[in-house]
Amino acid sequence: MDYQKILNQVSQEFAGKPRSGKVASYIPELAKVSSQKYGMHLHDVNDNNYCFGDSNERFSIQSISKVFTLALAMKVVGDQLWNRVGVEPSGDPFNSLSQLENDSGIPRNPFINAGALVVADVLVSYFSNPKAALLTFLHEITGNTSIDYDPVVAASEKSEGYRNFAMVNYLKSFGNIENNVEEVLDFYFHQCSLSMSCRELANAFIIFANNGRVIGSEREFLTGRQVKRINALMQTCGFYDEAGEFSFEVGLPGKSGVGGGIVAVHPDRFAVAVWSPPLNPKGNSALGMASLERLTTLTGFSIF
Ligand code: DON
Repeated sequence: MDYQKILNQVSQEFAGKPRSGKVASYIPELAKVSSQKYGMHLHDVNDNNYCFGDSNERFSIQSISKVFTLALAMKVVGDQLWNRVGVEPSGDPFNSLSQLENDSGIPRNPFINAGALVVADVLVSYFSNPKAALLTFLHEITGNTSIDYDPVVAASEKSEGYRNFAMVNYLKSFGNIENNVEEVLDFYFHQCSLSMSCRELANAFIIFANNGRVIGSEREFLTGRQVKRINALMQTCGFYDEAGEFSFEVGLPGKSGVGGGIVAVHPDRFAVAVWSPPLNPKGNSALGMASLERLTTLTGFSIF
């Protein structure tokens, strides 16, 4: 398969064309990013890399970070995690609080904000320095020690983070947050502020395409069972109330972020990351979804 030829075709179809959607503005720092940024990077399990556009420029990965924190929490606490967070799609927006009341404070899944806050709490309980532990995990799976948080983005989200403050307090009222709410939010806002390029994201996500291993290494970062479960959660919950649409159009497990990034995985073939900041009404990159639809249609490589 000539992936570079296909990426070139995707780029030609969309680059320079008018963009639909709106750049996220509820986190003030994100509103400053150009709506014209557009890049894609595909990393295959034979360790080949293919790309176009702004694929080497770092951006705020936001909710894509929830996959890394979930992986780390599954590693350190195992199946106990599922006592505190579910594995069902919510069908609601990423920042919705409404189901928590009837569900006694157990979030439907780890990718909606409520679930990611519980996962953050698990890591805050387990590690004396959770921010350092998350960075170490990312540095180990990518071999790239320059990946870091963006403290300006973290502070920007905190300054307007009323809904996440409400959410973590509400979760705590049900007994599903063990730590101080400020501490949990500080970790959560930092994980969302991680700054990575499409290349770095595709390289990091290859462990989900390669049975939990970095290419060329026998070290098992995650077991096959853990990877199977993480990919299943990305497939069913990675796009919130648009998870069905992403499966329908693209047909790969994936995760989006309000910075305009999307990462998707084809088990045993590749990990691919795309970045275009304008978001559709569900908070997912409009051009990112369209580009991945073209990729899986042109290659014939969806999981369906
Ligand atoms: O908590 C928030 O609202 C953001 N830090 C992350 C939201 C996000 O990326 C949703 N995904 N599309």
